[in-house]
Amino acid sequence: MDGMPITGTQAVAIGSDVYWIGAFDPSLRSFDLILKTANGTSYNSYLVRGADGVCIVDTVKKEFQDIFFKRLESICAYDEIKYIVLNHMEPDHTGALPELLKRAPNAKVYLSFQAQGMLKGLLKEGAENLDVTAVTTGDSIDLGNRKVSFINTPFLHWPDTQCTWLEDCGMLLSGDLFGCHFCDERLFNDLVGDFRFSFEYYYAHIMRPFKHHVLQALDLIEPLDIKLIAPAHGPILREHPREYVRHYHSMSVPHLRREGEITEKTLLIFYMSAYGSTGDMAKEVLKGAEQVSGVRISLYDLEGGEMPPFVDLIEEADGLVFGSPTINGDAVKPVWDLLSSLCSIHTQGKLGAAFGSYGWTGEAVAMIEDRLRGLKFKVPVPGVKVKLIPTNEELEECRAFGRLIAENLTGTNAPRVIDFSDLL
Ligand SMILES: Cc1cc2nc3c(=O)[nH]c(=O)nc-3n(C[C@H](O)[C@H](O)[C@H](O)COP(=O)(O)O)c2cc1C
Ligand SMILES: [Fe+2]
Ligand SMILES: [Fe+2]
Repeated sequence: MDGMPITGTQAVAIGSDVYWIGAFDPSLRSFDLILKTANGTSYNSYLVRGADGVCIVDTVKKEFQDIFFKRLESICAYDEIKYIVLNHMEPDHTGALPELLKRAPNAKVYLSFQAQGMLKGLLKEGAENLDVTAVTTGDSIDLGNRKVSFINTPFLHWPDTQCTWLEDCGMLLSGDLFGCHFCDERLFNDLVGDFRFSFEYYYAHIMRPFKHHVLQALDLIEPLDIKLIAPAHGPILREHPREYVRHYHSMSVPHLRREGEITEKTLLIFYMSAYGSTGDMAKEVLKGAEQVSGVRISLYDLEGGEMPPFVDLIEEADGLVFGSPTINGDAVKPVWDLLSSLCSIHTQGKLGAAFGSYGWTGEAVAMIEDRLRGLKFKVPVPGVKVKLIPTNEELEECRAFGRLIAENLTGTNAPRVIDFSDLL
C-alpha cells in the first residue's frame, strides 16, 4: 500500500494471508441515532487464510454486502470458507451474514455465549440448522498452520462482543473496540487523515458507559504482543498499535478524584430556583451533609452550567441530589437535560435524591425520584418538598435530609430498628 485510496473491488492484504474485505460508507452522517459521523464510516470485515481453510471475521451492513462479496470473491472461493467468526451481532457487522450463510452453507459459526440468543433474534428460523459453536477466552480454531483465538470482551459494545486474536502475526481483530467512525479509503492509520477526534468521540459514546468492562478487557489484551489492531470501524492501526491500547486505558481510569483522597465520598447537589426557595433549601442540604466527615460536597446552580462538564463530575461522584421547583406540573428542563445526558456514563448504584419548593401540586420531587430509580440509582432517602417559602423548621428538615444522604454515603446512618410488634 502506498497511500492510494482503495477504489476497486479487491481484497486488501493487511498481513500474511489476512485480508480486509470491508466496505466504505462515506455519506453516513449519523450512527445508531446517538453519534454524528462527519466523515462517514467503514464496516471492516476480515478474511484469514490457513492451510486448512478460510475464516471470515465479521461481515458488513446489509446495504453494503455487494462490495463485501466482490472483495471476498477476489481472494477465495465460497467452498473454502470453513469458519465464520462473529465478534459482534449488531447489524452493521452481521447485515451480510444471511447471504454469506447461503453462499457458504458448510461454514461453522463461532461466536460468544452471550451472542447465541442474539443470532436467533437476527436470523429467526434461518438460525435453526446452523452449525454454531459458542466460545470464550482461551478457545480457538485450528486452521492448520495458524490458530484463530478468542478473547471474551463483553459490553464493548453489546453484551455479546468478543475479540479475535491471531497469535502467529500479532493481529487483534477487535470488533468495535479501538474502532471509530472515520471513513478514509487510505485504510491504514499511518496513511489516513487526522482521526484523533473521531477515535475519542467514538469512545465517549460507545465505550464510556462500560469503562469498567474496558479495563477488564485491557487486562486480557495488554499482555499480548500486538503488531496490528484491525477494528470493525475506521482505520486499521498498524503504526504504534499499543498507543491506542494505552489511550483506551487512560480514558477509562478515573481522573477527577484528588490524589490521596480517594477514600472520600463525593456528593453533588444540582439545583435551580426562580424565586430563591429551592436555592435556600439547597444551601441547607449542603450544610446538613457537611456535618458528616468523609464526604466532599459541591453545590451547582444548573442555571449557570453546561451539561458536559457536569456529566464528567457525575461519572465519578457517589451521590447526586437534584433540587427543582415544580413549574407547570414538572421539574425544570435543565434537570431533565442533565438526567438524559447520563446515558453516556455508568450510573447504576449511585445514590440519588431530590428536593424542591412548590406552589400547589408539587410533582417535581417525585418525578425526579422516579427517573433516578429508572436509571438504577439507589434512592434511600425520601425527598423533601416545601410549599413556597421554607420556614425555619423546613430548613432544618433540609439539613437533616442532607445529613442523612451523607450518612448513607459513608455507611454511618443509624441502622433501622425493627419493632417486631409492628409485624404482628
Ligand atoms: C410559571 C410557573 C408555573 C408553576 N407551576 C406550578 C405547578 O404546576 N405546580 C406547583 O406546585 N407549583 C407551580 N409553580 C409554583 C412554584 O413551584 C413555586 O413558586 C415555588 O416556590 C418556586 O420555587 P423557587 O423559589 O425555588 O423558584 C409554578 C410557578 C411558576 C412561576
Ligand atoms: Fe456495535
Ligand atoms: Fe459497530
